[in-house]
Formats: sequence, C-alpha cells, structure tokens
Amino acid sequence: MIFTKDNFLDLKNMTDKDLNKLDIPGKVIANGGLVLFPTETVYGLGANGLDENAVKKIYEAKGRKSDNPLILHIADFDMVDILASKVSPLEKMLMEAFWPGPFTIILDRKPVVPNCVTGGLDTVGVRMPSNEIARELIRRSGTPIAAPSANISGRPSGTNIEDIFEELAPKVDYIIDGGECQVGLESTVVRVIDDIPTILRPGKITPANIKEVCGRVKIDGHVMGTLKEGEQVLSPGMKYRHYAPKSKCVLVYSEDNSKLVDEIKKQIAGYRNPLVLVSNENLKHFDCHKLSIGETGNLNSIAKNIFKALRQVDKFNPDIVFIEGAPQEGIGLAIMNRLIRACEHNYIEIK
Ligand code: TXA
Ligand code: MG
Repeated sequence: MIFTKDNFLDLKNMTDKDLNKLDIPGKVIANGGLVLFPTETVYGLGANGLDENAVKKIYEAKGRKSDNPLILHIADFDMVDILASKVSPLEKMLMEAFWPGPFTIILDRKPVVPNCVTGGLDTVGVRMPSNEIARELIRRSGTPIAAPSANISGRPSGTNIEDIFEELAPKVDYIIDGGECQVGLESTVVRVIDDIPTILRPGKITPANIKEVCGRVKIDGHVMGTLKEGEQVLSPGMKYRHYAPKSKCVLVYSEDNSKLVDEIKKQIAGYRNPLVLVSNENLKHFDCHKLSIGETGNLNSIAKNIFKALRQVDKFNPDIVFIEGAPQEGIGLAIMNRLIRACEHNYIEIK
C-alpha cells in the first residue's frame, strides 16, 4: 500500500482542531479496518474490538498465536460496563486511580466480547489510555479498540512510526503518527486475585503506586522467573519469546557500576564483533560497537529508549550483545522484565 495524505495522518505537532481529523481513521476502525495509532506506552495495532473479523486481521498481521488475548482500549468509564460483567469495589478503585493511563485491568467479560479477543478466556483486559489521540480515536470509532503493541510477534514493540513502518505499513489501512511514545514500555497488567491486585506484567504503574492506593499488591512469579514445562501462566503473552533481536543477547547487572563495566569488558574479550547496549555515561568505557539505552541513573529515560535500541541491534550483525541491566525497582522492574525476555534468560548478576 502507498501511504498518502488520505491514509497517513501526521499529528506530531497536534493542536485541538486536529482532533477532527481523527474522524477518518475512526471510520476505518468502525468499518473493520486496521489502524496504527499512538498511545502513551507504545504504538497500537488497532481494530474494532467487538468485530470478530476485524480482530482476526490483527492476529494475521502480527503473526500472533490465537491463545494470546488482546487488550480492549476504552475512552470513558461507561465502556467498562459494556465489556465487564461485574466490577468489585477494589477493581473500581484501581481504575479510578490509574485511568486514563498505562494501566490494564483483567475483568470478567460479558458475552459481547468476541472469543478471539480473549483467546478463549472468560476474562478481558481493559485499558483507558491517557494519550489524547488514542482516546479521541476510540470516541470517533464509537467502539472499544482491540490493540496489541505494534510489532510483528516476537519483535520489540514500536515506540515511533519510523521503527515499524517497514514491518507493518503494508498490513494496515491507516497510520497515525503521534511522534515518540512518552513511556516506551507497555502498560502494567493487573488482575485482582483473592482480593489482592496481582501484577501480571510490570509497567510504568509500579507495585509501590498500587500499594499506595489500596494497601496491598503482589507480583506474579512469572514476571522475572522462567516458565517451567507444562506450567500455567496467568498472562498468556508472558510465555512467548519476545523482544529478542536475532543475535544472542546477555543481560548484565551489578549495583556497583564499575563491577558491571568490568564484567562486560571481560565478557566481550572473547568475541569477534561484540555490541554493547549501555547507558550514556558507560559508552566511553567501550571501543567496540555500542548503543545508548538512555541516561545513566534515569530509569524513565531507559524505559523510553530501550525498544528503539533493541531494534537497532541486528544491523550491526554482532556475534554477541551485552546489555546493561537496571535495578528492579520502580519502572526498573518493567525494564528488566522486557530485557530478560530479549536475552532469553541469559542473565549475569555480579554481587
Ligand atoms: O500498553 C499496552 O498495553 C499496549 C498499548 C498498545 O496499549 N498494548 C499491549 O498489548 O501491550 P499486547 O497485546 O502486546 O500485550 C497484552 C498483554 C499480553 O501479555 C496478554 O497476554 C495480556 O496482556 N492479556 C490480555 N488480555 C488478558 C487476559 N484476559 N488475561 C490475562 N492476560 C491478558
Ligand atoms: Mg506486545
């Protein structure tokens, strides 16, 4: 498909009156088409979430396994009642605290939600994004929008249109360019289990944020662990290979920065064409191929940059990649959750 002003909307410098331009992609969604659109976390590959045929196009475009459910994106609280059969006071409290924002809650679904959205589960993931373009697109399409992260399955999620144009433009009907995503990592996914908010996928909304709202929080064991053979996983997306470049990647972390640098130096010595992904201030320690993952000590900056950096790895054709890890606190837990998958659990921690 060739993209012209009829199917590509540049809203990088959006003003209020530009919101009217979202009528057209809204109609594309309403009529069963696929739209690439920005959210505050990552770009979404959106379709009418109540239209089974439209949702199936998402799975085809991504090459996604059909048992991996999609999140439905809503623009206002009334839409929750259309999708979810019962909402507990605790669930309501969480939605009110974190919406609109990078927070997805798993609720018992109503029959109106197509089976292909939920991957056959009797629950549905619901999120109200804070990105204005995303919410206005939902309003104008008049339906909840089913949207996974914009990437071919297994690839890092797209955080800007340039990174995903080649892989997804041929598969969609309309593209909205909203510039760089603010957060850079996908939403925190939470399910209330036995009256305890349980984090199935960490994100910008941290365990501490949730605890502050309702006094309790649990992190599902699969967030950092490896799935054992035959074991059930509550968030099906967590069991698949994800975010990984073609090259072998190893995650290295130490609380002590000089130990971390020394370890990566020692490790790369045996390789012909190593690549390191480290924070700005550590770049100077390496004279091999290197990429910055963000500002040293600024976890938000690393969250924002990490997928972009992972997407550049393969063009160096490295025989090994070493990636600087982050402390598992705040959004660092989400960074490490994505990186441990990108590295297929190859992890070195130096005490
Ligand atoms: O920030 C985000 O959440 C982005 C943007 C586009 O909103 N979306 C996103 O979607 O990351 P996706 O499909 O890439 O990841 C959704 C995750 C998967 O791990 C999936 O298994 C989980 O949410 N999920 C969805 N519905 C679920 C359900 N009913 N029960 C358990 N996990 C669910
Ligand atoms: Mg995804």
